[in-house]
Amino acid sequence: MLAELGAFILRTCMHKLRAEIERLYAKGSLPVEVAGQARQVFQEFHHALTHGQVRAAEKHDDHWRVNAWVKQGILLGFRLGDLEEISSGAFTFVDKDTFPARRFGVSDRVRVVPGGSSVRSGAYIAPGVICMPPMYVNVGAYVDEGTLIDSHALVGSCAQIGKRVHLSAAAQIGGVLEPVGALPVIIEDDVLLGGNCGVYEGTQVLSGAVLGAGVILTRATPVYDIVRDEVYRSSSDSPLVIPENAVVVPGSRAIAKGKAAEWGLSLYTPIIVKYRDEKTQGSIELEDLLR
Ligand SMILES: CC(C)(COP(=O)(O)OP(=O)(O)OC[C@H]1O[C@@H](n2cnc3c(N)ncnc32)[C@H](O)[C@@H]1OP(=O)(O)O)[C@@H](O)C(=O)NCCC(=O)NCCS
Repeated sequence: MLAELGAFILRTCMHKLRAEIERLYAKGSLPVEVAGQARQVFQEFHHALTHGQVRAAEKHDDHWRVNAWVKQGILLGFRLGDLEEISSGAFTFVDKDTFPARRFGVSDRVRVVPGGSSVRSGAYIAPGVICMPPMYVNVGAYVDEGTLIDSHALVGSCAQIGKRVHLSAAAQIGGVLEPVGALPVIIEDDVLLGGNCGVYEGTQVLSGAVLGAGVILTRATPVYDIVRDEVYRSSSDSPLVIPENAVVVPGSRAIAKGKAAEWGLSLYTPIIVKYRDEKTQGSIELEDLLR
């Protein structure tokens, strides 16, 4: 009962916050006399974003939907922010004062291993996440429980990363802040991205899928499923979607026409070679003790 009441109050507050953000965003440039009040609204929004109470995208009835107002709130923060110098030891940095780097304490239950990582405020990092250095998480990203972000990995702005995901070394998740109506990259629960993978432009990797090392996915990349005899592509109104439990590896396909054929060229093509089985499980299992 108490939890339901809490959820109701939170929903009502977020509803009001949304209306305020939409109103301020629509104003364009903000005169000085409004900027102070706008900053207060932004601070409330920023707190909710950093604590995972609002998200750039959410799943409803099996479909991901973008929350354009959340992206508007982030853009408002950039508009309102002033450049400030931030010092850390021998280093100095310059960024908008509305998005300082996050600081973690033991009570956050997030492990940030020493060495050159940074998480921008306005990104939510759930308890149980491990951040190996150096890695970077940008504003608006949502990283759920038990996920491992390995060295040199990037979680771009607004990307939604599920539970128990493994982002291997140098995996790159592109950011999608603009246009505000565009879905960000979605990586669902229990996905593994092998080393040097890249997932960009609103691509969705559904739960349990495995991307072998070096797989790159963009809106323009067709993905050939040799198990189900299908080719997956994005369209003008839907992103590229990798099915649940698919195992995708980097491949190539011959170009059949013109000079390219004469020269024997081929294009890079990700291929779904199988759906996750016990062997895949064995190939990707992490040492539990590390966690
Ligand atoms: C995809 C992966 C998990 C293997 O999964 P698996 O279920 O064990 O795959 P299998 O060994 O059964 O291979 C299935 C088919 O795909 C091919 N294949 C597998 N991995 C491949 C890869 N990375 N590139 C190209 N082909 C690959 C196999 O040769 C096999 O084809 P075949 O039957 O014609 O020989 C593994 O290749 C991989 O990329 N792991 C990630 C490693 C990594 O980045 N670790 C980072 C730690 S920081």
